Amino acid sequence: MATPRIAVIGAGLMGHGLAQVFALGGHDVTIYDSAAASLATVKDRIATNLRDLGDDARAIDRVRPTGDLKDCVRKADYVVEAVSEDLPLKQKLFAEIETHVRPNAILASNTSVIPITDIMRGLRRRERALGTHWWNPPYLVPLVEVIGTEWTSPTVIDVTMKLHKDIGKTPAHVKKDVPGFIGNRLQHALWREAIALVEHGICDAETVDTVIKAAFGRRLAVLGPLENADMVGTDLTLAIHKTVLPAIESRRGPSPYLEKLVADGKLGFKSGEGFRRWTAAEQAALRTQVLQHLKTARERDEKKDPTPGRSS
Ligand SMILES: NC(=O)c1ccc[n+]([C@@H]2O[C@H](COP(=O)([O-])OP(=O)(O)OC[C@H]3O[C@@H](n4cnc5c(N)ncnc54)[C@H](O)[C@@H]3O)[C@@H](O)[C@H]2O)c1
Repeated sequence: MATPRIAVIGAGLMGHGLAQVFALGGHDVTIYDSAAASLATVKDRIATNLRDLGDDARAIDRVRPTGDLKDCVRKADYVVEAVSEDLPLKQKLFAEIETHVRPNAILASNTSVIPITDIMRGLRRRERALGTHWWNPPYLVPLVEVIGTEWTSPTVIDVTMKLHKDIGKTPAHVKKDVPGFIGNRLQHALWREAIALVEHGICDAETVDTVIKAAFGRRLAVLGPLENADMVGTDLTLAIHKTVLPAIESRRGPSPYLEKLVADGKLGFKSGEGFRRWTAAEQAALRTQVLQHLKTARERDEKKDPTPGRSS
């Protein structure tokens, strides 16, 4: 079978990274954005990433930006949308995309939290539509959650899982289209408790992060919670839950502490203060540290399981 042709809609933070990973995996990629500036810089941004990561620079030759949506999707076997997180915008785009694509083209959305069912509801052929939730930066974080709706055909799920596996990603099948899918549900269950610990005066924000980073955070990349529960024993896990769960934060909405931060304009890095104060130098140092950590993890993965065609 010929290598599927990919169309990426949106050339922002995520879109350019998705295009990069597909091109590196040997796919021809067209990429569309409604903002001319985004399109004009997309090849340079990808080329810089490829250089920075020591990946095959020739991958850039497989990426073709276009300012015409029809031209972008017309010949594609697989279309993935990564425009702004806005439901009516995504619905409108998919309705238009559907009028231009080949009969068997698969249509995917990279939304972070919007149910795929809501985005794809208006399509004529909903069985070919699904969600693929990548993580930032797409060329360093392996996971892609593959989310089916009640309409998605099993073949479309299988093809999409294989497509992502073949380009070196770690696809995870989400069988029900629930808000937050899997990753963001887990992540934000932890954040809810993290905020509550600060809200209730149990510790300050820096201490929450220190406890995670110096304790179970150290193990998390190699030991998931359910592996961990089996390792210590489900009986011990049950005993712990009987004591701890009744005390853990369980409110259904956002914390008033978080709402007040936002109301006070304490927006985090954007304003220089959120849960903590951040100078520009501290922000840059943290970003660099995260990037370096992810690069080292990818290098380790590559040594264990080299992805064909990745190295230059
Ligand atoms: N940033 C993350 O960490 C992250 C992670 C996973 C998923 N996502 C999701 O991916 C999607 C894109 O996020 P991002 O961070 O890349 O945003 P972004 O703002 O960096 O990029 C969005 C792009 O969409 C373009 N756009 C807006 N309207 C458009 C239209 N009508 N037609 C074509 N292009 C249009 C913008 O010009 C911009 O280039 C969102 O749904 C977001 O929730 C983001």
